[in-house]
Amino acid sequence: MTSAEAATTAAFQITVQPSGRAFSANAGEAILAAAIRSGVGLPYGCKDGACGSCKCKKLSGTVQHGAHQSKALTADEEAAGLVLTCCAQPLSDVVLESRQVTDESAYPVKKMPVRVASLEKKSDDVMQVRLQLPAADTFRYHAGQYIEFILRDGTRRAYSMANAPHTQAEAPGVELHIRHMAGGKFTDHVFGAMKEKEILRVEGPFGSFFLREDSDKPIVLLASGTGFAPIKALIEHLQFKGISRPTVLYWGGRRPGDLYLADWVQARVAELPWLRYVPVISNALPEDGWTGRTGFVHQAVLDDFADLSGHQVYACGAPIVVESARDAYSAQRGLPPEEFFADAFTSEADKHGG
Ligand SMILES: Cc1cc2nc3c(=O)[nH]c(=O)nc-3n(C[C@H](O)[C@H](O)[C@H](O)COP(=O)(O)OP(=O)(O)OC[C@H]3O[C@@H](n4cnc5c(N)ncnc54)[C@H](O)[C@@H]3O)c2cc1C
Ligand code: FES
Repeated sequence: MTSAEAATTAAFQITVQPSGRAFSANAGEAILAAAIRSGVGLPYGCKDGACGSCKCKKLSGTVQHGAHQSKALTADEEAAGLVLTCCAQPLSDVVLESRQVTDESAYPVKKMPVRVASLEKKSDDVMQVRLQLPAADTFRYHAGQYIEFILRDGTRRAYSMANAPHTQAEAPGVELHIRHMAGGKFTDHVFGAMKEKEILRVEGPFGSFFLREDSDKPIVLLASGTGFAPIKALIEHLQFKGISRPTVLYWGGRRPGDLYLADWVQARVAELPWLRYVPVISNALPEDGWTGRTGFVHQAVLDDFADLSGHQVYACGAPIVVESARDAYSAQRGLPPEEFFADAFTSEADKHGG
């Protein structure tokens, strides 16, 4: 074997502190891809250098970063030794620090064909899509995780599952809430030509956005738009497991119609004494007759909580909401960064926006 061949086939040891979990990554392989392959649950979201969820501190070793957004990892952060595991390839053995690492989180990632079982418009721009999964093959995931559609050209689009996994026992299938992004490759299809019975290919489950059941801290759920999808799965899961940690859901939209399952939430609030609901509207028009809270949804949490140091926050949806919440809750309300769990719904627009 030449030294060049040896370099391309070399495997490096990646160790995650303080848990001490270790796995091997091949030269040229992103650290996160190797972790998923090895069943080690590092935190992540977009897998594509856009959201910053996989950012963690490098304690030793050398990596080389592939393309990523500067807002996900600034040059200063990189110089200070922070890495994005989704696009960092090891050039040596590496030791990382990540407090959110979980051992038990990894269910097998599967590719499978799915059939569109139903399409139901919930608002002007939100489609509830139910997918039927292959019956022979149990699909295991954590409430809050997502699947990816593999499109014909090989590109992928991620959608969070809106139903908790226990619902698989009745009928193998997943529910998605898909918002139309005009000009979007996949959602133009969902709102245009997609029909019931269409067959698509998906892969999953992915993601580190799921309930940390080893905690008894009170919970703030923060959703913007279809960011409600994985939050709905979390509420279903809490109810199914009989977990009664005090939980408050802040759901934000521009207009009241954007809170497309508000009735579902009100019905849960009526039966679950530990759940409160605060809908927040940013751009109500007079004809909406909106008398509830107004403004930005992440700000409503800041207005209501002087101190978040004893809470866990689960946030999903528009990247700007997730980023604003992550920054402000830690800096201004004492939320420990490792108690903030999020999926930012990044799209092509975010990846090409600089
Ligand atoms: C972990 C995760 C979970 C998600 N879960 C959900 C979910 O539950 N529900 C949901 O609705 N969404 C979710 N998303 C977002 C979703 O994956 C898609 O990004 C979104 O639906 C848009 O897909 P699309 O193919 O229609 O649009 P894209 O083709 O990605 O385009 C998006 C927008 O960007 C514009 N655009 C395309 N290319 C460029 C370019 N080069 N430069 C500038 N602008 C461009 C398009 O015109 C369009 O308006 C999630 C994302 C992530 C990362
Ligand atoms: S930037 Fe790495 S997962 Fe999003």
